[in-house]
Amino acid sequence: MNSAITRVFAFLLICLGIYLWIGYTVTELTGGEKTASAAVEITPEGGETIFWGKGRCYTCHSMGGQGSAVRCPNLGQFGERFELPIGARAELRAKERSEETGRHYTATDYLVESLAKPDAYIVEGYKNEMAIVYAPPISLNLDEIQAVLMYLLSQGGELDMVVFEEPSEVTSEYFDRILAATAAGGGDPGNGEIVFEDYCQECHAIGGDGGEVGPDLSSISVKGKQFISDSVTAPTGDITEGYETFEVVQHDGRRIAGIKKKDDVSGIDIMRETGELVEIGRADIDEVVQDESRSLMPDDLTEALTIKDFQDVQAFLMMQKQEVVEEE
Ligand code: HEC
Ligand code: HEC
Repeated sequence: MNSAITRVFAFLLICLGIYLWIGYTVTELTGGEKTASAAVEITPEGGETIFWGKGRCYTCHSMGGQGSAVRCPNLGQFGERFELPIGARAELRAKERSEETGRHYTATDYLVESLAKPDAYIVEGYKNEMAIVYAPPISLNLDEIQAVLMYLLSQGGELDMVVFEEPSEVTSEYFDRILAATAAGGGDPGNGEIVFEDYCQECHAIGGDGGEVGPDLSSISVKGKQFISDSVTAPTGDITEGYETFEVVQHDGRRIAGIKKKDDVSGIDIMRETGELVEIGRADIDEVVQDESRSLMPDDLTEALTIKDFQDVQAFLMMQKQEVVEEE
């Protein structure tokens, strides 16, 4: 009896062992979890893997005779329409961009732009339907994008690592954009700017443009992603100095709530959440109370925004590192 139990037990142990061993071998054979998160090599080969894999470029683009996608520009040499493969084609497009913008574009600049800000140049005959490849769901990081760029440049163009080691002005601007997007969890700052204009600009200025109810956000990126995210999800959590909410009670019983823009012997100026500035003479003031539990920043913004819009506006704010423009 006892020996039967032992045998069953031993059998089960062997089964378990085999099961674990198969699992382990399969993980090893498929490259395992180790390589899943390993850094991509910034080489044309590394980029080729991304192009035909994680980057999902192949779902829209073919490369010459390779691939089956037809609805977007072929990135290889293909028929009369695409006489040059993308590396060489980029040189011609760069000339066009230089003329349009008045800035000097290299082939690399053109290619970086076509990934970082696809709507900057729309290939004739196509629509602005290129994916934002550094935003979800594709979410390529800067290394992966640089690898893809190497792959594109290797298609009939000049390959030179210096373009990444000492990037030109145009290229570094776009690399910054991609880094900011990745740092913010992979949002699309282009859409983030539109979200900002729709939901935030009435109260916040960037680069001298926008409302004065809330703090200027021209250099908000220095406070970091977590701070930005907390400010939107829980505005009352940590109210920015100088932007506390006050309520001024007048002798006639009227109450005006908002942010104190001026407080001196002559009286108090209160800016309401609408941006309207109310000047109250000292003689009319009965009492001034600070409402610590309240921020003029709306606390229902997270409900108004989709998760994507929220990520996108964070990405846009992570790019803001300008000098604050002082108002006269
Ligand atoms: C959802 C489809 C889609 C995906 C995915 C996509 N693209 Fe595009 N791409 C387009 C479209 C449409 C255009 C043409 C419009 C334009 O110029 O923005 C384009 C244009 C381009 C151009 C400019 C071509 C030229 O002739 O100048 C390049 C380069 C490019 N894509 C590279 C890529 C790479 C690399 C990836 C993957 C990381 C990728 N695309 C993913 C749709 C896509
Ligand atoms: C009705 C006006 C109003 C709107 C709309 C508004 N905010 Fe604010 N925001 C404020 C005020 C007032 C403060 C300062 C009080 C505080 O910290 O809660 C503030 C603070 C902030 C801060 C902290 C700034 C700092 O330097 O401490 C950030 C970040 C911010 N808002 C982001 C946003 C974003 C993003 C949106 C749009 C999605 C937005 N706000 C919409 C009024 C507004």
